[in-house]
Amino acid sequence: MARAEKPTWSNPLRDPHDTRLPRIAGPSALVIFGVTGDLARRKLMPAIYDLANRGLLPPSFALIGFARRDWEHEDFAQVVREAVEAGCRTGFRQEVWDRLSEGIRFVAGTFEDDDAFARLQQTLTDLDAERGTDGNHAYYLSIPPKAFPTVLSQLRRTGMADPTGSSWRRVVIEKPFGHDLESARELNALVGSVFPEESVFRIDHYLGKETVQNILALRFANQLFDPLWSSHYVDHVQITMAEDIGLGGRAGYYDGIGAARDVIQNHLLQLLALVAMEEPVSFSPRHLQTEKIKVLSSTRNIMPIAENSARGQYGPGWQGSEPVVGLKDEEGFSPDSTTETFAAIALEVDTRRWAGVPFYLRTGKRLGRRVTEIAIVFKRAPHLPFDDTMTEELGQNALVIRVQPDEGVTLRFGSKVPGSGMEVRDVNMDFSYGGAFTVSSPEAYERLLLDVMLGEPSLFPVDEEVELSWQILDPVLEDWAASGAPDEYESGTWGPTSADEMMARTGRVWRRP
Ligand code: BG6
Repeated sequence: MARAEKPTWSNPLRDPHDTRLPRIAGPSALVIFGVTGDLARRKLMPAIYDLANRGLLPPSFALIGFARRDWEHEDFAQVVREAVEAGCRTGFRQEVWDRLSEGIRFVAGTFEDDDAFARLQQTLTDLDAERGTDGNHAYYLSIPPKAFPTVLSQLRRTGMADPTGSSWRRVVIEKPFGHDLESARELNALVGSVFPEESVFRIDHYLGKETVQNILALRFANQLFDPLWSSHYVDHVQITMAEDIGLGGRAGYYDGIGAARDVIQNHLLQLLALVAMEEPVSFSPRHLQTEKIKVLSSTRNIMPIAENSARGQYGPGWQGSEPVVGLKDEEGFSPDSTTETFAAIALEVDTRRWAGVPFYLRTGKRLGRRVTEIAIVFKRAPHLPFDDTMTEELGQNALVIRVQPDEGVTLRFGSKVPGSGMEVRDVNMDFSYGGAFTVSSPEAYERLLLDVMLGEPSLFPVDEEVELSWQILDPVLEDWAASGAPDEYESGTWGPTSADEMMARTGRVWRRP
């Protein structure tokens, strides 16, 4: 196994645009396995260019693509250029591209091909000498999990995982991190047999989002919210990740995986951990992880699972004004697919702070609109000195962290309706990033790729977090597996009626964001 590298963490709340701080990556080469995939094209390549355009990559940076394609370096560079032009956020500048493209290489081959790995090793050695990448290599596995063992054992066999002198070697892994607790443990053991944990960067791109990092600022930089942040005042928490898109073209990844494994196991449980955790001693990775791990270790399913969860699969319906087909008619899905595209679960965090407060997590494809938000819903006032008719339109106070789109925070509370009578109705007080700050947020992948190169692990879940998340989800998945097919819901709605019934049993309702 490669030797452990010296940790070099820093504050995850640090502004990557702040040029007073040394947030520029050092000499490094990034190897992407699976470079012909959708993620590489849509996210990774534009993010690399945007980093270069913001001046955050050194002149000695190199990008190496590895795939089974009959390409020369120039062909690959052209593919990267097209992806950058289509997806970059900082504007295309020829001089930035020219500098970046000088360090672009391609290695053709399959993962089983020892010769291809020898060519990759030679390419890296040449780049270290010619371009000055200094032996610092990050390997991004943007590949199906079944290919992990082969690529990892090639990296071990060739010694490419082992740093020399003061250089570093890191591995970046994309989810899914297994499909249940057992497979996650196996995967962690496999990765751990090649790279030390400090050199393993598991991407959960939600942690790279500004609004997600802002949960820490909101909670720990202010006095206002903390006194309310517990079962004394909070009735429940709703974490929603709704998407309006369907799954056409993604059957290969999604069929048999489903919504819970796809995003609850990672993104939504990470959001829960950030909302529920205690103040960390510092923002060092270890202190952050300690607090997140404490939350995940204390999180349980509300029983019985059948009554406190819901799942569904989208049928035909509408996306905006367009008619759309149901999942079973999407390309690549079989007519008897039982993959859920909507999942809702109810959890509680067994700690003094949160005892008795349900955390409802829900996600779905082809829902009414794309929105991710965390709503802290407060208890009703213990007494209302108004006639019932005056407060008919008064709901529960809520603090809503709008993760996306329209990033910001909303505080909902009751206010008097202007007029001679006394009528109280909900109003919103809004903070919006767009209005308050002039700098645009970096894309999540930009932030995370830079952190990989800098060796800053704060925003990457560690093995224990991944395993604890599966430990929470496994009983739900087992319950669902034993109880037939998911309910169908019409595309463009907010999910199956069973989700509404699940909430109605508790006297609550889902928010309609
Ligand atoms: C990915 C999931 O992790 O997140 C996708 O695999 C989902 O199914 C995507 O569409 C959503 O990401 P974002 O950043 O658009 O909310």
